[in-house]
Amino acid sequence: MHIALLAGDGIGPEVTAQAVKALRAVAANGPQFDFTEAPIGDAAYDTTGDPLPEATAELAERADAVLFGAAGTYESDLRPPEQRGGHALLRLRKRMDLFANFRPVTAFPELIGASTLKREAIEGVDLVVLRELTSDIYFGTPRGVHVTNGERVGVNTMRYTESEIRRVAHAGFKAAQGRRKKLCSVDKANVLETMALWREVVTEVGREYPDVELSHLYVDAASMHLIRRPRDFDVIVTGNIFGDILSDAAAMLTGSIGMLPSASLNAEGRGLYEPVHGSAPDIAGKDIANPLASILCGAMLLRHSLGQPAMAERIETAVRRVLAEGYRTGDIMEAGATRLGTEAMGDAVAREIARLA
Ligand code: NAI
Ligand code: MG
Repeated sequence: MHIALLAGDGIGPEVTAQAVKALRAVAANGPQFDFTEAPIGDAAYDTTGDPLPEATAELAERADAVLFGAAGTYESDLRPPEQRGGHALLRLRKRMDLFANFRPVTAFPELIGASTLKREAIEGVDLVVLRELTSDIYFGTPRGVHVTNGERVGVNTMRYTESEIRRVAHAGFKAAQGRRKKLCSVDKANVLETMALWREVVTEVGREYPDVELSHLYVDAASMHLIRRPRDFDVIVTGNIFGDILSDAAAMLTGSIGMLPSASLNAEGRGLYEPVHGSAPDIAGKDIANPLASILCGAMLLRHSLGQPAMAERIETAVRRVLAEGYRTGDIMEAGATRLGTEAMGDAVAREIARLA
């Protein structure tokens, strides 16, 4: 089985190296994985002049799955899109048509104390944010900054076609069927026509899933309920920009953005797996980044792209055990715990995986 490894910028290479360790450990007595590395992001732009070189895109399309780190830096964020490391990921998502971005948010019992929220509120939280990933205001045209009547005007366009809404709605209902059978669709139907269409189409699709309880929330209310009563949510389906924001907020239920993996799938079920966090330039190269999000991406990759649920569970169990043993990276550090660096945390998980064999 062939995995394309696109480590990218900042902490990307540090955390994906630990995910590779975990995947090698879990495969020790079974099917082996071939990893092929390719440049993406600022690193690729600096050497090839393109943040998404054609060879990288082709490798990603051919592989059974893509393990991605992070792309972009604060400096390159200010350049035009074609020179921006972070833009490479948008292009790759679009090119592979990875429209369904699943972001599971699980409050690990071992980490309840690491959250800024009260124990009673977050205990038992187990939800998935399904963010549409290839459309919305991130891709709609017209876009840009131009001068009108002597001043600069910024324009972006929120745009969804019916079929784009329909397919992500189906993905949401199917995900809910495999869980607690509750789907909450988040929109801003009261103000935006695009989002009124969103609500209409999701409601239509819902008639095909009578076993799933469908509810709707406006995004502003949803952001409040997500913090106030997160346990009530099972699957949340929403558009690209609302999903981006809501999932970062949801991240705080778990204690750290360094704990959250994600899977981006297309209609054929092929996927790219990446932590929810970015390249974290402020901590890059210091061996302090939390690699658990990337390691948990490895588990999602096994489950969703390689059809290896037992192996996925072994990685997840190993992560839980390492946390239960009191090992923490800086971002989830608590009194009395043992602080580990990125590498050492990766080693601890790999060791636990070997023990579970
Ligand atoms: P970020 O997620 O990189 O960092 C936000 C904060 O969380 C920082 O204080 C960082 O140190 C901390 N953090 C992130 N991951 C962590 C981890 N694994 N362990 C411990 N702490 C962690 O988001 P930010 O600062 O908005 O963006 C930084 C750069 O990354 C920017 O250039 C941005 O464009 C890019 N970016 C790339 C993404 C991607 O490749 N998917 C996603 C988000 C941002
Ligand atoms: Mg984000």
